[in-house]
Amino acid sequence: MVSTRGTHNILVASNRGPISYTQDKTGALTAKRGGGGLVSGLSAIGPDAGALWVCSALGDGDREAVRRGVGEDGVRMLDIDADTHAAAYNDIANSVLWFVNHLLYQTPLEPVFDKEFRRQWAAYETYNHAFAEALAEEAAEGAAVLVQDYHLVLVPRMLRELRPDLRIGHFSHTPWAPPEYFRLLPDDIAAKVLGGILGADRAAFLTQRWADAFTDCCHAVLGPGIPSGTRIGVHGLGADADFLRERSHRPDVDERLAVLREQIGTAPDGSARKAIVRVDRTELSKNIVRGLLAFRELLEERPEWRERVVHVAFAYPSRQDLAVYRDYTAEVQRVADEINSQYGTPGWTPVLLNLKDDFARSLASYRLADVALVNPIRDGMNLVAKEVPVVSDDGCVLVLSREAGAYEELGEDAVVVNPYDVSGTARALHEALTMPVGERAERTKRLAVAATALPPAQWFLDQLNALEA
Ligand code: G6P
Repeated sequence: MVSTRGTHNILVASNRGPISYTQDKTGALTAKRGGGGLVSGLSAIGPDAGALWVCSALGDGDREAVRRGVGEDGVRMLDIDADTHAAAYNDIANSVLWFVNHLLYQTPLEPVFDKEFRRQWAAYETYNHAFAEALAEEAAEGAAVLVQDYHLVLVPRMLRELRPDLRIGHFSHTPWAPPEYFRLLPDDIAAKVLGGILGADRAAFLTQRWADAFTDCCHAVLGPGIPSGTRIGVHGLGADADFLRERSHRPDVDERLAVLREQIGTAPDGSARKAIVRVDRTELSKNIVRGLLAFRELLEERPEWRERVVHVAFAYPSRQDLAVYRDYTAEVQRVADEINSQYGTPGWTPVLLNLKDDFARSLASYRLADVALVNPIRDGMNLVAKEVPVVSDDGCVLVLSREAGAYEELGEDAVVVNPYDVSGTARALHEALTMPVGERAERTKRLAVAATALPPAQWFLDQLNALEA
């Protein structure tokens, strides 16, 4: 138990925080603000609410900022030893826990839970403990603490032990695996993951499906009943319509729109080519390679589309410290090149693959997309599926995996695919490309309404209120 009390009444904890620092050659630090649901959610309570965001220092710039005491009010970065952080973030969070909850393991080589795994797990515990201690130190009596995601599943239980007075929520932004898959984890680790989250007063998920899977895992691993009396909640994060509509019409987006239109070009008959757009972090659960294979099958089986359609694929590298993510990025590039050399002509590049992150260009691609391809193997929600209909200029058909959380809200107006079924996805792309304009416009309107039902600000406030109740 911690006897002194901090001053903050609302605390958020996540691995990646709202701000990051880079250091140039002269040693000067530049701060960059991040986006995302949590950042806009937190802005709903305003700067005067005295909230504190506890996050990791990621990279040298952040670490240097912590050392120099540079920072922002309302943000506390934890400079956790780099090896400990790497083992916790790369090896446990983004390998083991991400892979389990997105069903990504491939036998016969994976998974292997050996001595090395135990060492990494110990680092994950140390890392979680650093968060629990910082939160315990900063929180006022009875404060609300919202702990985010799979990086920090042990924090609720650890924090409860340090500070029984706090109200603690945990939110999972990922899917949750069904018990028969979750139990790949060693029994004691499975119990620690679940027991860690069950230290919270409330454990929340993006969809009922993931909440049910979590409950099923608790029953399978820990026995019937949710033992600690933790309440289970569901808050389906929506797109931020006001922000997106304003941001997607700024001059930088217009400029990129013009460039993209130029690159996509016109078909031999002079009509504008159609665009099948996807935007993802390059990451195995997003299923980018099968999306490319489906596009290739479309060109193979339906030669009438050659020269008339372009697959715009923005795949932004992520978690590149890990070989498995780097290899996947290389595979995406390889398959895209293969399709281009197989089918491309002097005036037509079938796949426009771009790996360089550019938010304004992503928005431009949403505006012109005829079809948006969102085919993850599994996804907690998938905000691209929700953002495209909001931003689209002329209506866009959403080809959506039934394994994305967004399917629960958008499934009725999307063309739905099984993400493993490449031929089925190729057929869905054809159906989407040939959908009558009127129907496509109607569907886009309904999708935009469903996609914006729970904007980030409301999503965040709902969680806070539920924790009070
Ligand atoms: C997912 C996770 C987030 C994470 C994000 C980006 O959406 O649920 O917690 O921040 O991916 O991943 P990164 O590893 O770059 O933080």
